[in-house]
Amino acid sequence: MARASIGIIGCGTIGSALAKSLARYYSVKLYDPKRGLKDDLSECEAAFVCVPTDQVEAAIASQGQRLAICSTVPLGTCDRLGRNVAHVPVFCDEDTAERDLKHLNYLVVGANRLDTLNFFCDLLAPLLRAKAKVVRCSTVEAELIKLATNSYFAVKVAFANEIYDVAQVLGADFEVVRAGLEANRNIASNHLDVWHKGYRGFGGKCLAKDVDLLLASADKMMGVLEAATRWRSTAKEGLK
Ligand SMILES: NC(=O)c1ccc[n+]([C@@H]2O[C@H](COP(=O)([O-])OP(=O)(O)OC[C@H]3O[C@@H](n4cnc5c(N)ncnc54)[C@H](O)[C@@H]3O)[C@@H](O)[C@H]2O)c1
Repeated sequence: MARASIGIIGCGTIGSALAKSLARYYSVKLYDPKRGLKDDLSECEAAFVCVPTDQVEAAIASQGQRLAICSTVPLGTCDRLGRNVAHVPVFCDEDTAERDLKHLNYLVVGANRLDTLNFFCDLLAPLLRAKAKVVRCSTVEAELIKLATNSYFAVKVAFANEIYDVAQVLGADFEVVRAGLEANRNIASNHLDVWHKGYRGFGGKCLAKDVDLLLASADKMMGVLEAATRWRSTAKEGLK
């Protein structure tokens, strides 16, 4: 039986990693004119949109098939697009995108219609690790899960940095304090590095951008997140 044909729109870090992962189960077509990729997606059963956040609307304008937006988007974007799109946010590190998307630890699928939700959950099922959790939700819930995840990590980095400063003032060894925190099974060891790639605070492409997107949509309610922006890495000159 012919394998279902699936399109990828935007073939950078995320799009190319997702394409490799899906190609194990489906016939994958690629569309990213800037990279010279111009497969015809019109016969595809569905396409995943993996373009930069500010390019999503332009990228879907001429697409008629079922679409899942994998790009990170401001809250309410999928509803505003006025089409029956799904939101399948991507949770991975830039450096390990290929590996992370090959076997998913968990999956969030947002859609406002049951048939769309079922379609993308079924399509992505082969990518799941055994016992991986699948969160089925609305598009705005999926958008909020994505922004809240990275914002939580940013707050955690900020908190670790503040504990580091307290330790310095007290003459305590932060690494010992950190080991004590990590010994508690309720405190995961990720995002407790105070020095990261030579700077303090949170950086990278995604954390700062997602914090900004969440603050822009919900600033009046986000006092904790607002306070954590002091630890954005671009402010590192002002930090000890
Ligand atoms: N990089 C990560 O680790 C990561 C993790 C999670 C989520 N995301 C999100 O995924 C999205 C994509 O990120 P990325 O890192 O893959 O970006 P990227 O810049 O590596 O790739 C984006 C690609 O989209 C293409 N593109 C732009 N406009 C297009 C259009 N109209 N039609 C077709 N292709 C178009 C570009 O040529 C580029 O190749 C972003 O919203 C990002 O926030 C990224």
